[in-house]
Amino acid sequence: MIDEVLSLYFIYGAISGYLEKVKIKGQICLFFYEGFFMVKVGTKENGGVSGENGFSEDYWASNYSDPESMDCIGNVKEHFAYLSSLFNLEVIEINSMVDLGFGLGAMIKEGRKKFALKKICGVEPSFYAFETMEKWKSKYGIKNLTLKNMGMAQWLEKTKGKYDLGLCNSVLQYLTNKELEEAIPLLSRRVKFLYLTVPTDVELDFQIRDHKFKDYYARRRTRAFYQKLLKKHFTFISNRLLESRYFFDEETTLFTNLLYRF
Ligand SMILES: C[S@@+](CC[C@H](N)C(=O)[O-])C[C@H]1O[C@@H](n2cnc3c(N)ncnc32)[C@H](O)[C@@H]1O
Repeated sequence: MIDEVLSLYFIYGAISGYLEKVKIKGQICLFFYEGFFMVKVGTKENGGVSGENGFSEDYWASNYSDPESMDCIGNVKEHFAYLSSLFNLEVIEINSMVDLGFGLGAMIKEGRKKFALKKICGVEPSFYAFETMEKWKSKYGIKNLTLKNMGMAQWLEKTKGKYDLGLCNSVLQYLTNKELEEAIPLLSRRVKFLYLTVPTDVELDFQIRDHKFKDYYARRRTRAFYQKLLKKHFTFISNRLLESRYFFDEETTLFTNLLYRF
């Protein structure tokens, strides 16, 4: 009897010892996998994954845990109050709008309230976000809104549409250099005005310092990089607002304060 108890005890010990080893091994693998993942996608100037094919659930879980605290979601009304005042001041009508990388669609929803839009388009590669907005669109039976489940680089290759206003908030940091070099000239042919926000390397550091948030998907690029890329195809009007050089003419532009052109 004692022998049987001892052998059962021995078997139990062997099994739990084995399981413990597997667990530790698993943890080591996970540690290296996560390390590799972060190096692969995060904080590199070039290389790593692009958002062009859509982000998986990891992105939405890590980056969207508190959407209301995000710029252009929690304060979307203030953004559109600013934009519509600026356009009203210059007596410029905005009849069409495209949102590139619309996420949860806060800017599309607010833009519809502030401008008398006849045509709206939303482009979003992540299926989770696209589907959320599709459901909202069909719930309210919105006819003049077209939603595309694709990346902006791919959409720009295909589209022939033109829009008075383009929105691109916190998206360009997810494109590769090559995608950006191809997309920006095409974008300048599609939108007359562009409301653009993109975090530079300095601002990505602020996010880490002030909000303890590290965006492993974002590419770190300098202000000089983005300005060089953009200024061939857009002129800077004011904070976040650009005008396409494809449409811009110094003598006919509707934004008349030419001092504020860079
Ligand atoms: C920080 S969120 C911003 C969402 C939205 N613009 C807003 O202001 O609420 C970044 C979004 O960009 C999208 N995205 C990433 N790469 C993209 C690409 N190549 N083309 C279009 N959208 C992209 C993501 O799927 C995500 O919805």
